[in-house]
Amino acid sequence: MRLARLRQCLQSPKTIRLLKRSSPAHRSKISPRSARSSGTDLRASENAWIPRTANLFSGESTRAVDEARLAFDSMYSAIAGSRVYRQITHRAFPDLPEWLIPYSVSPSLVLLERIAQSLNIGPASSFMDLACGMGGPGLWICERTGASLVGVDFSAAAISAATTLARHRGIARATFVSADATDTGLPEKSFDGLMSIDAIQFMDARSVATEIARVLRPGGIAALTTMEALVDDLPVATVAKDYRAVFKTTGFSICDYEQLADSAEKDNALFESIDLYRDALVKEIGEAASPMLEEADERLKRAKAPPRARKIFLVAQLQ
Ligand SMILES: C[S@@+](CC[C@H](N)C(=O)[O-])C[C@H]1O[C@@H](n2cnc3c(N)ncnc32)[C@H](O)[C@@H]1O
Repeated sequence: MRLARLRQCLQSPKTIRLLKRSSPAHRSKISPRSARSSGTDLRASENAWIPRTANLFSGESTRAVDEARLAFDSMYSAIAGSRVYRQITHRAFPDLPEWLIPYSVSPSLVLLERIAQSLNIGPASSFMDLACGMGGPGLWICERTGASLVGVDFSAAAISAATTLARHRGIARATFVSADATDTGLPEKSFDGLMSIDAIQFMDARSVATEIARVLRPGGIAALTTMEALVDDLPVATVAKDYRAVFKTTGFSICDYEQLADSAEKDNALFESIDLYRDALVKEIGEAASPMLEEADERLKRAKAPPRARKIFLVAQLQ
């Protein structure tokens, strides 16, 4: 994507509205009930730390998406500068560089390299990291390929952490925008590639695939990891059973698809690491540690139970 065009877009009224929607001032306008539930009403789920409301990620209600955003936002506010969370992730994912702090369980250098290869991008290209969190995985690929990056996430705290990280890494060709992944407000046909790690399962599958198709140039490639449901009653209602079908009906052809065999092992490594550092984490970030600790307890308890979802790697090309 041409940077001038992107800068123009970032200053457009629509983008400014999106940014305002995720500002603390806007967030304070959300009803006390939603704010309360997003702050404390969290439970362990199939993946990551997920607010309790059953249909939270149905993508059908603006309030539900607002609550989800607040939940992620309060978690990112707590962990963005956390020394202990950094230690937790380094112990769980020792091959990642020190500066790359994921808020997911998939990243490894092998996976990031595979995404970089699949996207087939270089210094003249641009790519998006959709639901980029604190920016580390996308910035690694940005450094590895020389391509320009736009990271998108609906958490303002995550975007702020990602922007700071890009500055510390001295990467000027990376920009981070706070927006809903199903309606980014970015120009159509503006990216050569798109990556997303452990995130699209939280969104209405059809809506996010349609948005990915809209922002990619014809021939552009999407490379992502996500969960696929193996049962009908996952607490996150939006997890699809078959993302290949979703992408095919949205104008993509499938180039690569694989179930990630080491995913349970990596989940356990993270949850064991959280368990090990629990006292230090509570000491450092207080109440905000609860959802992580609850999830770790529940996940370690049923580590040997039959899986209810699988982690997949998918590469799709826009026709
Ligand atoms: C498990 S985290 C993964 C973050 C990042 N990809 C990484 O690997 O560190 C899921 C991310 O999805 C983001 N997210 C969930 N729903 C979203 C939506 N509708 N729009 C934008 N971001 C969303 C969350 O804020 C969170 O950063």
